[in-house]
Amino acid sequence: MYMNGYRCFACSAIQTADYEGFLCPVCNGNLDITYDYEAVAEKIGDGFLQGSRDLFRFAALLPLKQPRPRFPLRVGGTPLYPARRLGQLAGMHNLYLKDDTLNPSASLKDRASAVTIARALDTGAETVSVASTGNAGSSLACLAAATGLAAVVFVPAKAPVAKLTQMLAFGARVLAVQGSYDDAYDLCLAASDEFGWFNRSTGYNAFTREGKKTCAYEIWQDLGGRVPDRVVVSTGDGNTLSAIWKGWCDLKAVGLIDRLPKIDCVQSEASAAISETVRQIRSDDGLQVDWSTLRVREVKASTLADSISVDRPRDGLAAVKAVIESGGEAVTVADREILAAIPEMARAAGVFPEPAAAAPWAGLKQMIRQQQVASDEHVVCIVSGSGLKDIQNAAKVIGEPQLIEPTLEALLKRTDKA
Ligand SMILES: Cc1ncc(COP(=O)(O)O)c(C=O)c1O
Ligand SMILES: [Zn+2]
Repeated sequence: MYMNGYRCFACSAIQTADYEGFLCPVCNGNLDITYDYEAVAEKIGDGFLQGSRDLFRFAALLPLKQPRPRFPLRVGGTPLYPARRLGQLAGMHNLYLKDDTLNPSASLKDRASAVTIARALDTGAETVSVASTGNAGSSLACLAAATGLAAVVFVPAKAPVAKLTQMLAFGARVLAVQGSYDDAYDLCLAASDEFGWFNRSTGYNAFTREGKKTCAYEIWQDLGGRVPDRVVVSTGDGNTLSAIWKGWCDLKAVGLIDRLPKIDCVQSEASAAISETVRQIRSDDGLQVDWSTLRVREVKASTLADSISVDRPRDGLAAVKAVIESGGEAVTVADREILAAIPEMARAAGVFPEPAAAAPWAGLKQMIRQQQVASDEHVVCIVSGSGLKDIQNAAKVIGEPQLIEPTLEALLKRTDKA
C-alpha cells in the first residue's frame, strides 16, 4: 500500500497511516489521504493501470491493505460517450458523458462504497452505516449485500421511493428519519459511535473520496491519455467534486499528465452553499484564502434534485478549494432547468439521468450562454445517477403515452406523428 497518511483540509495537520480517527484530531476538519507518489510513479512503469475493468485496477493509488481485493461486483469501468448530438444543441463540438449510472446500484456512489467497504473489511468491521439522501444508502446496501456485511442506512423519510426500494431489496436496515438529510447525518454519526459501526458517511469518511476519484482516472484512460478542458460535476456535499479533482491531481503527481482540467461545480439555486461560497471568495478577490478559517455557507435547501439537496455541505471546504484551485466555475441553475435537461439528455444522447445527474448539462448550457466556456473545449459531464431512481420528477417533463384502441383505424385517425 502506498498510502502514507492523512492531511487535514483545514489546518494541514498530518497524521500517519495508522491513525484510526475519521476527522482531524487538531481541528475536527476533514482528512485527505496522502500517498508516496514517487514510489507509485516508479511502479507505474510496470503498467499497473491495465487489467480488469473495475476500479480496483487502480490499486496503487487506493488506500487498501490488500493490493487487489476480490470484489464480487464490478464497480467502475463505466463508459465515456462522445455526445455529439447533445453537444450540438448548445453548439459544443467536444462533449462527453461519463455514464456512471451503469454501476451496480446505478450511481457514482458505488465507487465510494466499494472502497469504503474494502476498508471496512480491512479493519474487520461487520456492520457499515451511512447517512444518505438516497444514493449512498442504496449503494452501500447493494455492495454490503454482495460482500456479506450488514448495512444500516439513515435516510430522510421523503427520499425517492425507488432509492428506498433499492435499500430494502438489498436487505439493509433502513431508518427513515423524520427530518432532513442533515438530521439523518447527525443521527448516523451518533448511532455509529454508540454501536461501533463503520460509518461511510460522505464528508466524514476520507475513503469515499478515494473511490470516487477513480472516475477521473477512467476519463483520462478513455480519452487516450488526453486531459479534457473541463469536468462538470453536480454538487451537494462536495465530496464527488473534490474527488474528481483529486483524481486528476494524482495523475499529475505520478507524472502521467502535465496539465489539469478545470472542475465546474453545478448546484441548484435552491441548494447552493458551495457555489455561493466560491463566488463570495472571488468577489472578495480572495486568491489568498486562509483555509483554516474559511466557513462554507449554510443554506436552507429545497431543490427537487434530492441527491444534491444539502443545507450544510459536509465536504464543502474540499470542494470550494477544488473549484478555486482548478479555476473552474461555480454555477447555479433553476430546478426547472434541471428538469428540462432530463429529456434533452435522454433524447439526444440516450442517457437517462436523475435530476441531480442532469444538473451538469443544465449548468454547461448556462456557462456557454454566459461565454464562460468556448464551443471547442473538451468537456465531460458526469452522469452520476440513473433516471430510474426518480421517475416522479422525470414524469413532470417527458409527456404521456398516447392511449389508443387496438386498431389501425384508430391510429390512422391520429394526426400527431411518431
Ligand atoms: C446522483 C448524484 N449526483 C451528485 C451527487 C453529489 O455528490 P456530493 O454530495 O458529494 O456533492 C450525489 C450525492 O448524493 C448524487 O447521488
Ligand atoms: Zn485540522
